[in-house]
Amino acid sequence: MLLGKMTTMVHQLLQTQIQPGQVFIDGTVGNGYDTLFLAQCIGPQGKVFGFDIQKKALIEAELRLKKEGAMGQAIFIHDCHSKLDQYVKEPIDGAMFNLGYLPKGDPRMITTPQTTLVALEKCISLLKPGGVITIVSYYGHKGGEEEKNAVDEYVKKLDERTITVGCLSFNNRKQNPPILYIIEKKKNRKRSNKE
Ligand SMILES: C[S@@+](CC[C@H](N)C(=O)[O-])C[C@H]1O[C@@H](n2cnc3c(N)ncnc32)[C@H](O)[C@@H]1O
Repeated sequence: MLLGKMTTMVHQLLQTQIQPGQVFIDGTVGNGYDTLFLAQCIGPQGKVFGFDIQKKALIEAELRLKKEGAMGQAIFIHDCHSKLDQYVKEPIDGAMFNLGYLPKGDPRMITTPQTTLVALEKCISLLKPGGVITIVSYYGHKGGEEEKNAVDEYVKKLDERTITVGCLSFNNRKQNPPILYIIEKKKNRKRSNKE
């Protein structure tokens, strides 16, 4: 099935892009499914920085990665993703954000537009040309709609000369189906001798 779970589709899309040895950020680690995916794609030579404000989530995620032998390339940070520049000092090949709250966790611990937009801005400035940021927006919960609108407005304003933004939504699914935003930084154009 091509149009299945949004999180699976994101993995399928990114798989075509990620290379061993690359550097990624997981802005919302949660149970660590996305971090594990990234860690496996980039391999032992790569690096994935994972952020979450919930210690419980990071402990769960660390167990998951250890079990799969992928913890060597992961760095977990118990802090807000809006402060990511304090920890990530190198250019990145990409980032993932899976917004909302931890499934089966505390529904009050939601991502918010205030920190999400700051984190996105910081990821974009660290992003290498050709790099990609994916954002899956869940908005059925209280505060979710506000965040979805803020992300939507934000990505629409990104400069099309340097960044391409794509969006994927399930147009006939009921009950607030997730939306995927893809932000891609354009590769630097080679100047020809005639320019
Ligand atoms: C939808 S879950 C992420 C699911 C995860 N990607 C996975 O594979 O299981 C969202 C997570 O974002 C975290 N979160 C909320 N606000 C945050 C913030 N400001 N900085 C970092 N993480 C945050 C929550 O604690 C929650 O674990």
